[in-house]
Amino acid sequence: MLRAIYPGSFDPVTYGHLDIIRRSSILVDHLIVGVLNNNAKMPLFSVEERVKMLEDVTKTLSNVEIVPFDGLLVDFAKKMDAGVVIRGLRAITDFEYELQMSQTNHKLGPDVETIFLTTNIEYSYLSSTTVKEIAAFGGDITQFVPEVVKDELERKMKAKRRV
Ligand code: PNS
Repeated sequence: MLRAIYPGSFDPVTYGHLDIIRRSSILVDHLIVGVLNNNAKMPLFSVEERVKMLEDVTKTLSNVEIVPFDGLLVDFAKKMDAGVVIRGLRAITDFEYELQMSQTNHKLGPDVETIFLTTNIEYSYLSSTTVKEIAAFGGDITQFVPEVVKDELERKMKAKRRV
């Protein structure tokens, strides 16, 4: 039984992430989407909010589970009995960071392999950071994120403007 982890910040989940989740869920028996709980990264959404949005947009995928984690990814992989980490590669600019992370993880946990999926070309430009910036300036994010995420982002931005 192949168990894999797709880790990330998912602040918030975009159609690019969802594409990787869907394609990975076909390749493995069980996919754990690991949501990083690290306030040092100053996420816009709490880990609970990010988990809830992910649960919502993956509810039709029966072998996908959303689990928050903190600490080292390799420790989380061991705890979840997962031998594979999946990451998406959008462009060459992602490569250096991803290579370094995968090699570091391999040193820390030689039993954990990283597999890269190239992002669907339709989403190769997309990032959570860009989506948040567009939303902050009142731009339309319909084509970048699922409706539930759009609603949550707009609600969050309105609340921020009130502060
Ligand atoms: O969506 P992101 O922010 O690119 O995801 C990054 C993530 C969560 C995969 C990475 O920051 C991570 O694995 N953090 C856990 C800490 C860790 O294991 N660090 C050592 C590997 S570099």
